[in-house]
Amino acid sequence: MAEFALPKNSKVKKGEVVDASGGAENAKTFRIYRWSPDDIDDDGNVKNPRMDEITIDLDKCGPMVLDALLYIKNNVDSTLTLRRSCREGICGSCAMNIDGTNTLACTKDINDVTGDVNITPLPHMPVVKDLVPDLNHIYAQYTSIEPWLKSDSPAPNRERLQSEESSLILNGAEGNGPAACILCFCCSTSCPSYWWNGDRFMGPAILLQAYRWIADSRDDATGERLDQLEDPFRLYRCHTIMNCTNTCPKGLNPAAAIAEIKKMMVARR
Ligand code: SF4
Ligand code: SF4
Ligand code: FES
Repeated sequence: MAEFALPKNSKVKKGEVVDASGGAENAKTFRIYRWSPDDIDDDGNVKNPRMDEITIDLDKCGPMVLDALLYIKNNVDSTLTLRRSCREGICGSCAMNIDGTNTLACTKDINDVTGDVNITPLPHMPVVKDLVPDLNHIYAQYTSIEPWLKSDSPAPNRERLQSEESSLILNGAEGNGPAACILCFCCSTSCPSYWWNGDRFMGPAILLQAYRWIADSRDDATGERLDQLEDPFRLYRCHTIMNCTNTCPKGLNPAAAIAEIKKMMVARR
Protein backbone atom coordinates (compact mmCIF):
# COMPACT_ATOMS: atom_id res chain seq x y z
CA MET A 1 0.00 0.00 0.00
CA ALA A 2 1.26 3.45 -0.86
CA GLU A 3 2.29 5.52 2.12
CA PHE A 4 2.14 9.26 2.11
CA ALA A 5 3.94 11.57 4.47
CA LEU A 6 3.23 15.26 4.58
CA PRO A 7 6.29 17.49 4.47
CA LYS A 8 7.22 18.42 8.05
CA ASN A 9 6.51 22.09 7.54
CA SER A 10 3.00 21.53 6.18
CA LYS A 11 1.51 20.06 9.36
CA VAL A 12 -0.87 22.39 11.15
CA LYS A 13 0.05 22.59 14.83
CA LYS A 14 -1.92 23.66 17.86
CA GLY A 15 -1.45 27.37 18.39
CA GLU A 16 -2.12 29.87 21.11
CA VAL A 17 -5.15 29.58 23.37
CA VAL A 18 -6.52 32.92 24.52
CA ASP A 19 -9.66 33.47 26.56
CA ALA A 20 -10.56 37.10 25.97
CA SER A 21 -14.21 36.66 26.96
CA GLY A 22 -13.77 37.81 30.55
CA GLY A 23 -15.92 34.86 31.64
CA ALA A 24 -18.91 36.15 29.64
CA GLU A 25 -21.99 33.96 29.39
CA ASN A 26 -22.35 34.49 25.65
CA ALA A 27 -18.80 33.34 24.81
CA LYS A 28 -17.68 31.58 21.62
CA THR A 29 -14.36 30.08 20.57
CA PHE A 30 -12.89 30.78 17.14
CA ARG A 31 -10.22 28.38 15.88
CA ILE A 32 -8.26 30.38 13.31
CA TYR A 33 -5.55 29.26 10.87
CA ARG A 34 -2.36 31.28 11.29
CA TRP A 35 0.75 31.22 9.12
CA SER A 36 3.26 33.82 8.15
CA PRO A 37 6.32 33.51 5.91
CA ASP A 38 8.03 35.86 8.38
CA ASP A 39 7.64 33.51 11.40
CA ILE A 40 11.08 31.89 11.53
CA ASP A 41 12.22 29.28 14.09
CA ASP A 42 15.65 29.08 15.77
CA ASP A 43 17.01 26.94 12.89
CA GLY A 44 16.06 29.60 10.35
CA ASN A 45 13.07 27.67 8.94
CA VAL A 46 9.63 29.12 8.39
CA LYS A 47 7.41 27.90 11.23
CA ASN A 48 4.52 25.50 10.63
CA PRO A 49 0.99 26.85 10.36
CA ARG A 50 -0.99 26.72 13.58
CA MET A 51 -4.61 26.94 14.74
CA ASP A 52 -5.10 29.61 17.39
CA GLU A 53 -8.08 29.26 19.71
CA ILE A 54 -9.53 32.58 20.77
CA THR A 55 -12.62 32.91 22.92
CA ILE A 56 -14.52 36.19 22.90
CA ASP A 57 -17.70 37.68 24.31
CA LEU A 58 -20.22 37.71 21.44
CA ASP A 59 -22.11 40.57 23.09
CA LYS A 60 -19.12 42.77 22.25
CA CYS A 61 -19.13 42.24 18.49
CA GLY A 62 -21.58 42.17 15.60
CA PRO A 63 -23.42 39.06 14.44
CA MET A 64 -21.27 37.91 11.53
CA VAL A 65 -18.04 35.93 11.48
CA LEU A 66 -16.27 38.94 9.94
CA ASP A 67 -17.37 41.03 12.95
CA ALA A 68 -15.76 38.48 15.27
CA LEU A 69 -12.54 38.38 13.25
CA LEU A 70 -12.28 42.17 13.28
CA TYR A 71 -13.03 42.22 17.02
CA ILE A 72 -10.18 39.75 17.52
CA LYS A 73 -7.86 41.79 15.30
CA ASN A 74 -8.72 45.03 17.08
CA ASN A 75 -8.74 43.72 20.65
CA VAL A 76 -6.81 40.45 20.92
CA ASP A 77 -4.18 40.04 18.19
CA SER A 78 -3.54 42.84 15.72
CA THR A 79 -1.30 40.59 13.60
CA LEU A 80 -4.29 38.52 12.39
CA THR A 81 -4.43 39.09 8.63
CA LEU A 82 -7.49 38.84 6.39
CA ARG A 83 -9.02 40.55 3.38
CA ARG A 84 -12.29 42.42 3.56
CA SER A 85 -13.77 45.56 2.15
CA CYS A 86 -17.52 46.01 1.71
CA ARG A 87 -18.86 43.87 4.58
CA GLU A 88 -22.02 43.51 2.49
CA GLY A 89 -21.37 40.42 0.37
CA ILE A 90 -20.50 42.55 -2.65
CA CYS A 91 -16.71 42.74 -3.02
CA GLY A 92 -15.95 39.01 -2.57
CA SER A 93 -12.74 39.69 -0.68
CA CYS A 94 -13.62 38.07 2.67
CA ALA A 95 -14.09 34.57 1.18
CA MET A 96 -12.70 31.85 3.44
CA ASN A 97 -13.56 28.40 4.73
CA ILE A 98 -15.84 28.63 7.76
CA ASP A 99 -17.10 25.53 9.52
CA GLY A 100 -16.03 23.38 6.54
CA THR A 101 -17.69 25.46 3.81
CA ASN A 102 -16.28 28.15 1.56
CA THR A 103 -18.29 31.29 2.12
CA LEU A 104 -18.16 35.01 2.84
CA ALA A 105 -17.23 35.92 6.41
CA CYS A 106 -19.33 39.09 6.25
CA THR A 107 -22.57 37.26 5.47
CA LYS A 108 -21.99 34.17 7.63
CA ASP A 109 -23.96 34.41 10.84
CA ILE A 110 -21.95 33.24 13.87
CA ASN A 111 -25.11 31.67 15.29
CA ASP A 112 -25.35 29.36 12.27
CA VAL A 113 -22.26 27.53 13.56
CA THR A 114 -22.77 25.03 16.34
CA GLY A 115 -19.82 24.81 18.73
CA ASP A 116 -16.42 26.30 17.96
CA VAL A 117 -16.02 28.21 14.69
CA ASN A 118 -13.21 26.76 12.56
CA ILE A 119 -11.78 29.23 10.08
CA THR A 120 -9.16 28.45 7.42
CA PRO A 121 -8.20 30.14 4.13
CA LEU A 122 -9.88 29.09 0.87
CA PRO A 123 -8.63 25.53 0.24
CA HIS A 124 -5.93 24.53 -2.23
CA MET A 125 -4.58 28.02 -2.78
CA PRO A 126 -1.11 29.12 -1.74
CA VAL A 127 -1.35 31.26 1.40
CA VAL A 128 0.14 34.75 1.54
CA LYS A 129 -0.50 35.08 5.28
CA ASP A 130 -3.13 33.75 7.73
CA LEU A 131 -6.51 33.89 5.94
CA VAL A 132 -5.23 35.58 2.78
CA PRO A 133 -4.93 33.27 -0.27
CA ASP A 134 -2.68 34.06 -3.21
CA LEU A 135 -5.06 34.84 -6.10
CA ASN A 136 -2.44 35.70 -8.73
CA HIS A 137 -2.93 32.49 -10.73
CA ILE A 138 -6.71 32.62 -10.78
CA TYR A 139 -6.65 36.30 -11.79
CA ALA A 140 -4.24 35.42 -14.61
CA GLN A 141 -6.82 32.83 -15.73
CA TYR A 142 -9.49 35.53 -15.52
CA THR A 143 -7.38 37.82 -17.71
CA SER A 144 -6.95 35.00 -20.23
CA ILE A 145 -10.69 34.90 -21.04
CA GLU A 146 -10.56 38.62 -21.96
CA PRO A 147 -13.49 39.69 -19.78
CA TRP A 148 -14.61 42.72 -21.70
CA LEU A 149 -17.08 43.46 -24.49
CA LYS A 150 -15.77 42.82 -27.99
CA SER A 151 -18.00 44.39 -30.60
CA ASP A 152 -17.54 44.77 -34.35
CA SER A 153 -19.90 47.73 -34.50
CA PRO A 154 -18.71 51.29 -33.79
CA ALA A 155 -19.22 52.53 -30.25
CA PRO A 156 -22.60 54.29 -29.95
CA ASN A 157 -23.04 57.66 -28.22
CA ARG A 158 -24.85 55.99 -25.34
CA GLU A 159 -25.12 52.49 -23.77
CA ARG A 160 -25.41 49.46 -26.02
CA LEU A 161 -28.97 48.40 -25.36
CA GLN A 162 -30.22 44.84 -24.92
CA SER A 163 -33.67 43.33 -25.08
CA GLU A 164 -35.19 42.38 -21.74
CA GLU A 165 -34.94 38.74 -22.79
CA SER A 166 -31.20 39.03 -23.52
CA SER A 167 -30.46 40.86 -20.29
CA LEU A 168 -32.31 38.16 -18.36
CA ILE A 169 -29.66 35.65 -19.48
CA LEU A 170 -26.97 37.77 -17.83
CA ASN A 171 -28.84 39.00 -14.77
CA GLY A 172 -31.07 36.00 -14.00
CA ALA A 173 -34.73 36.20 -13.03
CA GLU A 174 -33.84 36.69 -9.37
CA GLY A 175 -30.59 38.59 -9.81
CA ASN A 176 -28.63 35.36 -9.75
CA GLY A 177 -27.35 35.30 -13.33
CA PRO A 178 -23.64 35.18 -14.25
CA ALA A 179 -23.35 38.99 -14.16
CA ALA A 180 -23.95 38.84 -10.39
CA CYS A 181 -20.69 36.94 -9.77
CA ILE A 182 -18.48 38.79 -7.27
CA LEU A 183 -15.30 36.78 -8.04
CA CYS A 184 -15.00 35.50 -4.49
CA PHE A 185 -13.68 32.13 -5.78
CA CYS A 186 -15.58 30.07 -3.18
CA CYS A 187 -16.68 27.87 -6.09
CA SER A 188 -13.32 27.25 -7.76
CA THR A 189 -11.67 26.44 -4.44
CA SER A 190 -14.39 23.88 -3.63
CA CYS A 191 -14.03 22.09 -6.99
CA PRO A 192 -12.00 18.84 -6.82
CA SER A 193 -11.13 19.13 -10.51
CA TYR A 194 -9.74 22.59 -9.89
CA TRP A 195 -7.75 21.36 -6.87
CA TRP A 196 -5.94 18.77 -8.98
CA ASN A 197 -5.79 20.51 -12.37
CA GLY A 198 -5.99 24.19 -11.48
CA ASP A 199 -2.88 24.88 -13.55
CA ARG A 200 -4.81 24.08 -16.75
CA PHE A 201 -8.52 23.74 -15.88
CA MET A 202 -10.17 27.17 -15.71
CA GLY A 203 -12.47 26.20 -12.83
CA PRO A 204 -16.07 27.25 -12.26
CA ALA A 205 -15.59 30.95 -11.42
CA ILE A 206 -13.63 31.70 -14.59
CA LEU A 207 -15.87 29.53 -16.77
CA LEU A 208 -18.94 31.30 -15.39
CA GLN A 209 -17.27 34.59 -16.31
CA ALA A 210 -16.42 33.25 -19.77
CA TYR A 211 -20.08 32.30 -20.20
CA ARG A 212 -21.12 35.79 -19.06
CA TRP A 213 -19.40 37.20 -22.20
CA ILE A 214 -20.27 34.32 -24.53
CA ALA A 215 -23.96 34.79 -23.66
CA ASP A 216 -23.91 38.58 -24.00
CA SER A 217 -26.03 39.52 -27.04
CA ARG A 218 -23.86 42.66 -27.56
CA ASP A 219 -20.60 40.68 -27.86
CA ASP A 220 -19.41 39.60 -31.32
CA ALA A 221 -16.53 37.33 -30.26
CA THR A 222 -18.52 34.20 -29.36
CA GLY A 223 -16.66 31.94 -31.81
CA GLU A 224 -13.27 33.22 -30.69
CA ARG A 225 -14.22 32.77 -27.02
CA LEU A 226 -15.40 29.19 -27.63
CA ASP A 227 -12.20 28.43 -29.59
CA GLN A 228 -10.18 29.57 -26.61
CA LEU A 229 -11.96 27.08 -24.32
CA GLU A 230 -11.95 24.15 -26.80
CA ASP A 231 -9.27 22.19 -25.00
CA PRO A 232 -9.23 18.94 -22.99
CA PHE A 233 -8.34 20.81 -19.79
CA ARG A 234 -9.65 24.38 -19.85
CA LEU A 235 -13.33 23.39 -20.05
CA TYR A 236 -13.67 19.63 -20.10
CA ARG A 237 -12.14 18.91 -16.70
CA CYS A 238 -15.53 19.80 -15.23
CA HIS A 239 -17.15 16.49 -14.28
CA THR A 240 -20.41 18.01 -13.01
CA ILE A 241 -19.67 17.26 -9.36
CA MET A 242 -21.70 20.41 -8.48
CA ASN A 243 -19.66 21.52 -5.44
CA CYS A 244 -19.35 24.91 -7.12
CA THR A 245 -23.09 25.55 -7.30
CA ASN A 246 -23.67 24.17 -3.82
CA THR A 247 -21.13 26.51 -2.25
CA CYS A 248 -21.71 29.81 -4.10
CA PRO A 249 -22.65 32.35 -1.41
CA LYS A 250 -24.53 34.44 -3.99
CA GLY A 251 -26.74 31.53 -5.10
CA LEU A 252 -25.30 31.43 -8.63
CA ASN A 253 -25.03 28.31 -10.74
CA PRO A 254 -21.55 27.96 -12.32
CA ALA A 255 -22.21 24.29 -13.15
CA ALA A 256 -25.18 25.30 -15.33
CA ALA A 257 -23.05 27.97 -17.06
CA ILE A 258 -20.40 25.33 -17.81
CA ALA A 259 -23.08 22.99 -19.18
CA GLU A 260 -24.32 25.82 -21.46
CA ILE A 261 -20.79 26.34 -22.83
CA LYS A 262 -20.48 22.60 -23.49
CA LYS A 263 -23.83 22.63 -25.34
CA MET A 264 -22.65 25.54 -27.50
CA MET A 265 -19.48 23.62 -28.32
CA VAL A 266 -21.54 20.66 -29.52
CA ALA A 267 -24.02 22.84 -31.44
CA ARG A 268 -21.33 24.49 -33.54
CA ARG A 269 -19.69 21.22 -34.66
S1 SF4 B 1 -19.56 21.06 -11.56
FE1 SF4 B 1 -17.58 21.16 -12.59
S2 SF4 B 1 -16.73 23.11 -11.98
FE2 SF4 B 1 -18.41 22.66 -10.53
S3 SF4 B 1 -17.41 21.63 -8.81
FE3 SF4 B 1 -18.02 20.11 -10.24
S4 SF4 B 1 -16.27 19.69 -11.55
FE4 SF4 B 1 -15.95 21.64 -10.52
S1 SF4 C 1 -19.87 31.95 -9.00
FE1 SF4 C 1 -20.38 32.40 -6.86
S2 SF4 C 1 -18.79 31.35 -5.67
FE2 SF4 C 1 -18.04 31.50 -7.77
S3 SF4 C 1 -16.82 33.34 -7.81
FE3 SF4 C 1 -18.88 33.90 -8.49
S4 SF4 C 1 -19.94 34.58 -6.66
FE4 SF4 C 1 -18.11 33.48 -5.96
S1 FES D 1 -16.26 42.05 2.84
FE1 FES D 1 -16.97 42.23 0.79
S2 FES D 1 -17.91 40.32 0.42
FE2 FES D 1 -17.36 40.21 2.52
